[in-house]
Amino acid sequence: MPEVDESEREKQFYTDIPVKNRPFFLKGCNNLDWGMKNRLSKIFNPKTGKTVMLAIDHGYFQGPTTGLERVDVTILPLLPYADTLMLTRGILRAIIPPTFDKGIVLRASGGPSVLNELSNEEIAIDIDEAIRLNVAAMAVQVFIGGQFETKSVHNMTRLVDMGNRYGIPVLGVTAVGKDMGRDAKYMRLASRILAELGVTYVKTYYTEKDFDTVTASCPVPIVIAGGKKLPEKDALTMAYRAIQDGAAGVDMGRNIFQSDSPVAMIKAIRKIVHDREKPEAAFEFFLEEKNRLEGNKKRKT
Ligand code: 5RP
Repeated sequence: MPEVDESEREKQFYTDIPVKNRPFFLKGCNNLDWGMKNRLSKIFNPKTGKTVMLAIDHGYFQGPTTGLERVDVTILPLLPYADTLMLTRGILRAIIPPTFDKGIVLRASGGPSVLNELSNEEIAIDIDEAIRLNVAAMAVQVFIGGQFETKSVHNMTRLVDMGNRYGIPVLGVTAVGKDMGRDAKYMRLASRILAELGVTYVKTYYTEKDFDTVTASCPVPIVIAGGKKLPEKDALTMAYRAIQDGAAGVDMGRNIFQSDSPVAMIKAIRKIVHDREKPEAAFEFFLEEKNRLEGNKKRKT
């Protein structure tokens, strides 16, 4: 039977070249489906295996957080330097241009405000909505040791089931309540539980001591939250140490958008995360960039 292909050219099957079987670049993610891996590649840079996620979802429980009062004014200028944006669907629809073509990590849990018990969250989104918004991942807060621990763990496992059905990764956020520990022992416990129960990657806090044991005992990638605003040099040093200790990047908010110079800061963080720059050099870069941007602004006014 003749083949439909009517080309005159002789077929090339390259029988001498074996098909390459390339492992996926992220720890613990090799056995995920194509769609998941494709979405993860919109979060993590496949060249460096790392990510600079910009977290601006704080308003989902604390309203107009300092630095996020006007996301259109303060955050849009940072978008070119973020690998991924972590935010709520409200801010996404209202403010972020749909031409933004990097990964969106959608806040998928919520409920209580700062006026109430924070661990009492529910899933705050339908999977259809996440698909409609074309997100790269969904993020859920998990309160290990918190008052509503079991409920938040179940929120996570239900989201993991929904995400697995459609190839959408889930980021498990180890939420640290007011009275919960922030040491390596706690972070190992929380991160490992999240990974065991199926999240695709974990967000946790950096611990001064033994953070390498937190990343080593977690079978999937870990990114660190920035936490409260620190002096820029200290935040850069924390990011550097986290990467040295095996973190796959940062999911940083206040230490970027509350900086004196948010653009200079996110660019300096990129130097640490993607270029393995030392904190001193990244801080020098921050100062130079800050001066340059301030000079440009003065010239315009
Ligand atoms: C809110 C979050 C934030 O995204 C997270 O805390 C990152 O922001 P920051 O660097 O400001 O701590 O998960 O619960």
